[in-house]
Amino acid sequence: MQDIKILAIESSCDETAAAVVVNGRDVLSNVISSQIDIHTLYGGVVPEIASRKHIENINPVIEKALSDAKMTLDDIDAIGVTYGPGLVGALLVGVAEAKAISFAKDIPLIGVHHIEGHICANYIDNKELEPPFICLVVSGGHTHLVVVKDYGEYEILGKTRDDAAGEAFDKVARAIGLGYPGGPKIDKVSVDGNPEAFVFPRAKITDSVYDFSFSGLKSAVLNQINAAGMKGEEINVPDIAASFQKAVVDSLVTRAMTALEETGFKKFAIAGGVASNTAVRSEFEKECKKRGISFYCPSKILCTDNAAMIGSAAYFEYKKGVRSDYHLNAIPNLKLGER
Ligand code: KG4
Ligand code: ZN
Repeated sequence: MQDIKILAIESSCDETAAAVVVNGRDVLSNVISSQIDIHTLYGGVVPEIASRKHIENINPVIEKALSDAKMTLDDIDAIGVTYGPGLVGALLVGVAEAKAISFAKDIPLIGVHHIEGHICANYIDNKELEPPFICLVVSGGHTHLVVVKDYGEYEILGKTRDDAAGEAFDKVARAIGLGYPGGPKIDKVSVDGNPEAFVFPRAKITDSVYDFSFSGLKSAVLNQINAAGMKGEEINVPDIAASFQKAVVDSLVTRAMTALEETGFKKFAIAGGVASNTAVRSEFEKECKKRGISFYCPSKILCTDNAAMIGSAAYFEYKKGVRSDYHLNAIPNLKLGER
């Protein structure tokens, strides 16, 4: 069978990324230009700045992805691009670029769902992984417990009712003075903290065992900080961070393990930026091992936003004959499974 080489583009938030992926699983290049430094000045992602930076970065990033893969556009069989969900102005930069290349080179265009990309990162680092399996997607904008029924076929078992897990990490990090980007900073300082120092709530949703809620947890942490402030006490940042992180991990693990027990699936994967968290990875590995469940996770660099995962998702769509036309548009609130 002929190899299918896909050039993938990702620009949904604050990373401009391009990659060349062969047959959905082999990454020839994976270039990520992060805008973290500039957004750090503002304490979070400023959408208008993100769009402008994507415009500046996109051509050099694509050129580097092609040269790292020792290819030119003439070697590429199809273009994959994230078209939602995400920041509309940011998404539009990638979508317009992908359409232009597809038109100029007369090669197929495939619009990819960003969350589907996160799930597919697992196919790159776990060559033997095939659906069906259960996947927990935990990113800055999403917390979804999903049955991956087949390539490109998803059933959502549960999702967050309020904040996404990554959003909770970012908000708590800001409140305890760690700043942006919050997730990696909480991960780092938690190593020196006591996860039992504070008992923060693990919300339960009575009408859906698989749904999540993190806003109460975030408020509990804020209350703890305010109470300490009123008493003139210093807060122990590593202890608060570690206790908060433990509460998030417990909430994620409980839902996922219930889903595995009730559905009988024997394969479980994690995906998204929060899946790069040290405690998340080690707890899931331990809990899956106890139950005889095979545990999969992408390498850390493929958990956070990148284009290689988009190239993987695009390949499985390509194989099914899915093609986008030049009406493809950015859809900021695109739902998983929607086309
Ligand atoms: O998947 P991602 O790169 O972008 C979205 O699609 O949202 O996820 C970004 C989120 C941010 O909220 C970030 O704080 C969180 O993932 N994150 C982490 C870690 N690395 C990134 N959260 C906890 N621990 C980490 N090590
Ligand atoms: Zn993402």
